[in-house]
Amino acid sequence: SSGDGDSGGETYTVATDNNFVPFEFLDEETGEMEGFDMDLIRAIADEAGFNVKIEAMKFDGVVTGMQQGKYDIGIAGMTITEERAETIDFSDPYYDAGLMLAVHSDNTDIESEDDLAGKTVATRSGTTSETYLQDNHPDAEVETFPGIVEAYMDLQAGRVDAVMYDVPNVQYYVANDSEEELKTVGGILQGEQYGIAFPQDSEIVDDVNEALATLIENGGYDDVYEEWFGE
Ligand code: ARG
Repeated sequence: SSGDGDSGGETYTVATDNNFVPFEFLDEETGEMEGFDMDLIRAIADEAGFNVKIEAMKFDGVVTGMQQGKYDIGIAGMTITEERAETIDFSDPYYDAGLMLAVHSDNTDIESEDDLAGKTVATRSGTTSETYLQDNHPDAEVETFPGIVEAYMDLQAGRVDAVMYDVPNVQYYVANDSEEELKTVGGILQGEQYGIAFPQDSEIVDDVNEALATLIENGGYDDVYEEWFGE
């Protein structure tokens, strides 16, 4: 798409998710994908001397797309897991995340994950939250949605008891919930780290890692972090 710079180098296709605030989302005014991941991959591309063509899709499409080698790079708040690492290559970690619970602000019976038995917990399909719930909460009823927005809407409407998802996304929704219908409960349930994804044996992993390390050293990473997570 336009605005992705032209450094004269190769152009790589970058698969991302279409809605995971504040990491990637469509800016309705510019028609561009924006967010932390988008600024980071553009900064990495500038540093390493390549161009990016961003393609937005559903999160599970990013995962399978990388497994099938359909895109050169995937960046979508994707947690580095042992299971995924069997079929996808990852960069060095670039963001510390984890999982967290949100409930309706009126809810008084769920204070932590210990209170999930018999409750309905919504999350997005194909994510680490889904796996975490399956592994750790067999007594909860898990409802998965193709997009997380529907899960939060159901929580606000009282159709589900809780949402489990990535800490920065849960915190973003709670902070931007003007009706104050949502609150977080409990702490971080599982520490996770995000990595940039590549098809197996990709030859650009080292270049991307090198550019990432440079940006962490020279403040470029901090600038992007400030932009999206600064106070
Ligand atoms: N970090 C979680 C995972 O890797 C959720 C990622 C959701 N990312 C997204 N762009 N929707 O499974």
